[in-house]
Amino acid sequence: MSIWPLTAEPALSVGGSGLAEIAERFGTPAYVLDEEHVRARCREYAKAMAPHEVAYAAKAFWCRAMARWIAEEGLSLDVCSEGELVVAGAAGFPAARILLHGNGKTLNELSAALDYGVGRVVVDSVSEVVQLAALASQRQKVLVRVTPGIDAHVHRAVTTGTEDQKFGLSIASGAAADLACRIRRLPSLELAGVHCHLGSQITSLDSFTEAARRLVAFMAGLGGLPELNLGGGHAVPYRPGDQGLDIAAFAGQVTGVVEQECAAHGIPVPRLTIEPGRAIAGPAGVTLYRVLTVKRGTRTFVVVDGGMSDNPRPALYGSRYHVERAGTPAPAATEPVTVVGRHCEAGDVIVPDARLPADIRPGDLLAVPCTGAYHHAMASNYNHLARPPVIAVRDGRARPLIRRETDEDMLRRDVG
Ligand code: LLP
Repeated sequence: MSIWPLTAEPALSVGGSGLAEIAERFGTPAYVLDEEHVRARCREYAKAMAPHEVAYAAKAFWCRAMARWIAEEGLSLDVCSEGELVVAGAAGFPAARILLHGNGKTLNELSAALDYGVGRVVVDSVSEVVQLAALASQRQKVLVRVTPGIDAHVHRAVTTGTEDQKFGLSIASGAAADLACRIRRLPSLELAGVHCHLGSQITSLDSFTEAARRLVAFMAGLGGLPELNLGGGHAVPYRPGDQGLDIAAFAGQVTGVVEQECAAHGIPVPRLTIEPGRAIAGPAGVTLYRVLTVKRGTRTFVVVDGGMSDNPRPALYGSRYHVERAGTPAPAATEPVTVVGRHCEAGDVIVPDARLPADIRPGDLLAVPCTGAYHHAMASNYNHLARPPVIAVRDGRARPLIRRETDEDMLRRDVG
């Protein structure tokens, strides 16, 4: 699995557009997104999982163009807020293919989802079920989010399948079964299935197969259900040599285990849903930065025109990235450098252990791959920096999907 987008000539071009030209035309920092990569990953997932369902997790990266691509490629959609649903609506995303998630849904969100006619609501608490049942004027399909008690061995901040946490209802304590029975007694709700999410950037299949066993056993206790949503984020490589999760192997093993377990428990095989976000959008993206200054001392700091406002992941999770000088062929000699941002914090480091050409200098362009997921989505205005644009590339054409934010945009909200 490559760390660069499918159509990339690493550090030179993506989607037939030169990175140097994109930086010249749209400025830096900029997120570049390979449309063909996104579409190809959707097709790969759909094919591997057929006849089961693949729902793209909008939180990874979301805008109207992305919604259209996902819809055109036949995927379903996982939204976790009214804001994500509004974008889906603005793009005309088919309501029946939408799942609404969230451990703390607002009443407005529930109403908006019902008004839009979302296919399924993934319920996460007793009080939410009570609210939803009262709001629903037609029978609404729901899935119960359960915690299967599985540690997928990923970063603590994105570990979501273990006991004693804010997501879902525990299978082990009986809370999940209690809620399922309660839903069955409510005429306005239809218990369609169960959902779990084990965490993000998962490299091993074992946690998925164990989750499949536990969830099928749970469903058997309820006499079987039509749907099983086996969530958990599939790993992608950020640096050369990193491990990604192979989707064909995943599909083969997980569907195999579900079929076996259902046979063993004597229940029909449910329709499976999986919810990849990062694995579809992550490797499709490349961030471009301009070098502002090079400071040589005991180490060499390469300071770029972005930082933790466009990529908070190193500071939040200790995430590691690869970086290359873009737009020019790499010279033979490189030196170890620390690539840092321009924010007022020592922790604003993008790549602590990079190797860049020894003649790196202000004005050079840098490319950081695998930045299509949870980068624009998590960008902030820290230090009043404007958020970068997202530029889609395909067949030699580059076009903004999201324009660069301006100081005026920020001042417009400053109404005091
Ligand atoms: N479904 C649910 C219910 C989720 O909570 C998530 C991610 C996904 C699907 C998609 O997971 P993915 O395939 O993208 O791993 N900000 C963190 C990631 C947080 C993921 C939260 N939930 C990061 O930058 O690594």
